[in-house]
Amino acid sequence: MTYARILGTGSYLPEKVVTNDDLAQIVDTSHEWIYSRTGIRERRIAAEGQTTCDLAEQASRAALAAAGCEAGDIDLIIVATTTPDRIFPSTACLLQERLGNRGAPAFDVQAVCTGFIYALATAEKFLRSGSAQRALVVGAETMSRIVDWNDRSTCVLFGDGAGAVVVGMDEEFGIISSHLHADGTYKDLLTVAGGVSEHPEILRNGGAHILMRGNEVFRMAVTTLDNIVEEALAASGLDRKDVQWLVPHQANTRIIGATAKRLGMSMDQVIVTVDRHGNTSGASIPLAFDVAVRDGRIRRGDTVLMEGFGGGFTWGSILLRY
Ligand code: COA
Repeated sequence: MTYARILGTGSYLPEKVVTNDDLAQIVDTSHEWIYSRTGIRERRIAAEGQTTCDLAEQASRAALAAAGCEAGDIDLIIVATTTPDRIFPSTACLLQERLGNRGAPAFDVQAVCTGFIYALATAEKFLRSGSAQRALVVGAETMSRIVDWNDRSTCVLFGDGAGAVVVGMDEEFGIISSHLHADGTYKDLLTVAGGVSEHPEILRNGGAHILMRGNEVFRMAVTTLDNIVEEALAASGLDRKDVQWLVPHQANTRIIGATAKRLGMSMDQVIVTVDRHGNTSGASIPLAFDVAVRDGRIRRGDTVLMEGFGGGFTWGSILLRY
């Protein structure tokens, strides 16, 4: 049996830190309100002109170095993003050019906050089928560009950043199971209405902003993530106690805590970065994973459950032995 294994990780955060107190200067909010409901203290915001591809490039270079690879060794590039630099070419193609890779297939995946789970699961299928040997999988976002900075109910939640992994085949360890889901009937609960084809006038007028029915999203996220945990354990035949680390999508500490409880995990086994990063959508899982690998918490051979939930709705999990 061979597995698709994460060979190296990397991440990148823009320099500018925006605290809850900073936001209280812009909209009618407070640190207490934001922190008590979401666990967020601060987030990073991309500099003017700094793009999703800029963040992706830095994270990718770090992941390539950690994996001991050159860009030319990569034969598949997938970028999960909801905030691409351009409508086209894909951010993956822009990233490929930056890294100096030519010829490898490169494409974006759009599954909002579940994007990285979708991208990594897709890469795994390429690798296991023999269509690729070494993949670069990136989650990168500049959510600050689609936030309405006058809407206190959403602007306090999001941040910018990027995370990346290099994946290759391994005889012993790697991805054990992956599960992807979507249900488009929930399309209006969490959306940016306005795009190329539907309501292009919203895009032209600069009004393409995140709209969210927060309470309903919260309830759906908790219930759905519970089911994801059960599904991953049942498919892998593993027991709750076999999972050492939970790397959840970083939206809200209350949602994360509910999933950890379901797994019977203490919060010491959960990688939490939402306090410092906010919700970086498709970037949040690889960012959190890289933080925990680099600070020595997640070690080679550890069993890790990644899970995500986002607009669409989309949701999914990846269970792996790192
Ligand atoms: N500061 C102060 N008050 C705020 C505020 C802010 N930043 N944002 C909203 N409020 C106000 C509302 O206007 C409302 O006031 P009202 O009662 O006078 O109308 C009140 O706070 C309660 O709003 P509500 O939306 O019910 O708050 P909540 O307790 O549900 O918390 C969220 C809001 C967004 C934190 C919560 O719903 C949540 O975390 N949802 C999930 C979001 C998420 O994770 N999305 C991404 C999924 S990938």
